[in-house]
Amino acid sequence: MKPIGIVGALRQELAAVLDRMPDERRQCAGGREFWAGHWHGHEVVAVLSRVGKVAAATTATALIERFNVNRIIFTGAAGGLGAGVRVGDVVVARRFVQHDMDASPLFPRHEVPLYGRACFDTDPALSAALAEAARAVLACPDEALGAHALAGFDLRAPRVHTGLVASGDRFIATAVESAALRQALPNALAVEMEGAAVAQVCHDYGVPFAALRTISDRADADAHTDFMHFIDQVASRYSVAVLENYFKNL
Ligand code: ADE
Repeated sequence: MKPIGIVGALRQELAAVLDRMPDERRQCAGGREFWAGHWHGHEVVAVLSRVGKVAAATTATALIERFNVNRIIFTGAAGGLGAGVRVGDVVVARRFVQHDMDASPLFPRHEVPLYGRACFDTDPALSAALAEAARAVLACPDEALGAHALAGFDLRAPRVHTGLVASGDRFIATAVESAALRQALPNALAVEMEGAAVAQVCHDYGVPFAALRTISDRADADAHTDFMHFIDQVASRYSVAVLENYFKNL
């Protein structure tokens, strides 16, 4: 059996994943540390991508070329763009677009040149399984997070959303920027910095891909406030609980 690739953008998320792998072994390739081991008996390679599209694309390529993964799951945080996408909600991407791709007038805005498309889909079955796992976790969030972790955040009735996610090499931290994104991409539920790159690599190699993002902010002037605290206390705990649920039912 080929392993499952798990990519986290931040160290806290990877640490929570490695805590669940009893036998992980470290291997270095392409300036990254890859951790090969098992989760609920399934072969897994976990890796920290670092931040941004280039780092994410090279990490995904190494997972496929060096570690021969049969699917890639990305977990991380994102800024909420869509109406009703609130801090503490989870977004499972159906497709990705690069919001900063613009080769106009040669190609339409957002279209990736020579691919004839702006959006890259995630794998429907893998994404449906992750969304199902996320719904099960969010049905009892304090079980996943612990009442102590929840206490500092106003997370009422968190929801799972599925749909378009926008990626770009910019942390969106002003209301002006997020309004511009909403206008350019009215269907985008959330914004982050890696997913579209991994989606394109997985499209090129024919490898199934899914991505799970916990909403850490609304991509406005408050976006940086408590970001790391939120990642520690909420996003990484959600990620690991959702993945745990996914692996248990695999
Ligand atoms: N990841 C989490 N929040 C984000 C934001 N506001 N912009 C880009 N990436 C993010």
